[in-house]
Amino acid sequence: MKKLLIVFHSMTGGARQMAEAAARGACGEPDIEVRTVRAVEAGGDDVLRADGYLFVTPENLASMAGAMKDFFDRSYYVALDRIQGRPYAALICAGSDGENAARQIARIALGWRLKPIAEPLIVCTHAQTPEAILAPKTISAADLARCEEAGAALAAGLALGIF
Ligand SMILES: Cc1cc2nc3c(=O)[nH]c(=O)nc-3n(C[C@H](O)[C@H](O)[C@H](O)COP(=O)(O)O)c2cc1C
Repeated sequence: MKKLLIVFHSMTGGARQMAEAAARGACGEPDIEVRTVRAVEAGGDDVLRADGYLFVTPENLASMAGAMKDFFDRSYYVALDRIQGRPYAALICAGSDGENAARQIARIALGWRLKPIAEPLIVCTHAQTPEAILAPKTISAADLARCEEAGAALAAGLALGIF
């Protein structure tokens, strides 16, 4: 059975809801084992054990969230040259932008020689004031459906071995 690893970080709930939606989509694929792990609890061994990856992070200060970066810092050299060719996708939760976090993940994935299976999916929460940024987030049904589709597509491709 192929294994899909979903690694996420979330402070106010947006990226967590996106990761959960992606996991729901992926779980519709019977031949795929889906593991959803918080970035602070994930590491190189989880990366090595999986056949494909979904990285889900907020954009904070024009960067992926620090906890997500810490996951990559701890995992990068453990997995280097051992996971090339495996498929991945990235989901970004952003207040207004998200492009830089997406670029950073793409750069790290390129170093790992992973295969992107889709453009990064950026969900914008339109949180721009301090109050809005610190408030709990509710991701719209339409955006959750996009995340669910992303999870389903990655899982289906993994199951069929088309990546
Ligand atoms: C310290 C901090 C910095 C942020 N910087 C950015 C940013 O550079 N670009 C952006 O689009 N959103 C930025 N945001 C907004 C978050 O991306 C947004 O609130 C998102 O919903 C957070 O995801 P979460 O709900 O999973 O924590 C920032 C939020 C915080 C707390």
